[in-house]
Amino acid sequence: MNDPVVHAVHFGLILLIVVNVAAVVLESVPSIREGHSILFLGIEIVSGFIFTVEYMARLWCAPEDPPFQHMRPWRARLRWAMHPQSIVDLLAILPFYLAYWNVEGLRTLLLLRLFRFFKLARYSPGLASLAEAIYAERRALLACGIILIGAMLLAASVMNLAEREVQPDKFGTIPEAMYWAIVTLTTVGYGDAVPVTPIGRVIAAVTAVMGLIMLALPVGIVASAFSREIHRRDFVVTWSMVARVPLFADLDAHDIATVMQCLRSRSCIPGEVIVRKGDEAHSMYLIASGDVEVVLPGEPVRLGPGDFFGEMAILRRRRRSATVKASTHCRLLILDANDLHELLEANPSIAEHIHKVAQARGGRKTS
Ligand code: CMP
Repeated sequence: MNDPVVHAVHFGLILLIVVNVAAVVLESVPSIREGHSILFLGIEIVSGFIFTVEYMARLWCAPEDPPFQHMRPWRARLRWAMHPQSIVDLLAILPFYLAYWNVEGLRTLLLLRLFRFFKLARYSPGLASLAEAIYAERRALLACGIILIGAMLLAASVMNLAEREVQPDKFGTIPEAMYWAIVTLTTVGYGDAVPVTPIGRVIAAVTAVMGLIMLALPVGIVASAFSREIHRRDFVVTWSMVARVPLFADLDAHDIATVMQCLRSRSCIPGEVIVRKGDEAHSMYLIASGDVEVVLPGEPVRLGPGDFFGEMAILRRRRRSATVKASTHCRLLILDANDLHELLEANPSIAEHIHKVAQARGGRKTS
């Protein structure tokens, strides 16, 4: 992932997506479209070609992707193609071919070119965290939606009772009043349907206040889940990062997904102290990239990608046995003590491996 070529390719693709989206937006202005039609056509052909190559390359390499590694190649490719991000990729190249075949009646689908914007999700950990926050809070958000629908129905039917005689065109039926209710509850208030009777105005005031309270609920839920998610993940813990850790090599896809939920991340700069001898222990660390140094009385021990540390104090419920410092820039995956104990209980082979390593290290130093 730290390969400069990979960075350059990602940067190039991001730039192309931004240029594409800007081109689609500008092309909708007739004066700009007429003056630069060749330029827009050039952008479309070049990006259609590059996005197709990108799609084909990703499809071809799907069996190498850690989540699909245990599958047959054709199955891995099929599973990859069904992934939402891959569907976005496909929708992003579709307009290029539709325009080429000049399919009648499908010209409006050319707006699908704006779908290219969503390709950015792949390169934006923040967007991924937002999606995860929304997914994690889906039940609470669904409850908010149900409450909102209930409030809308209540406000619409009460308003229908209060104003149907005076304004039959706006509040004559409950569906008509529902339009007013949703516009009021969401605090948009277009003003095209307004109550005129005193009782109607009281209902409108109560509905507007209820709307404020009800909209604050989902906003608060998503905001706090998002900030929790961002802080939980200093960098985004990806599937491949977890699947590459040798300790988790035997886990199946479901278990990796479970472990991924528990892992937090931390980036360290060279020389940074990660755990200090004698401190209380709350977590164990897995090295995703970079090196650390365990400061021991004799020679320091260097640990690298795939190794773990910080397990001894947790397993033995003692204080840290040594100080561990980052030797290079490194990325660590952090597993909290409770999650570690749960993982060990659920996976005896991992438990055995960690205990063996801890015993060997303890034998070398602390026993
Ligand atoms: P813990 O005691 O929680 O915190 C310090 C960590 O350093 C310890 O867990 C081990 O993971 C690691 N450690 C201690 N001694 C050694 C050793 N001899 N070799 C490698 N790692 C060690």
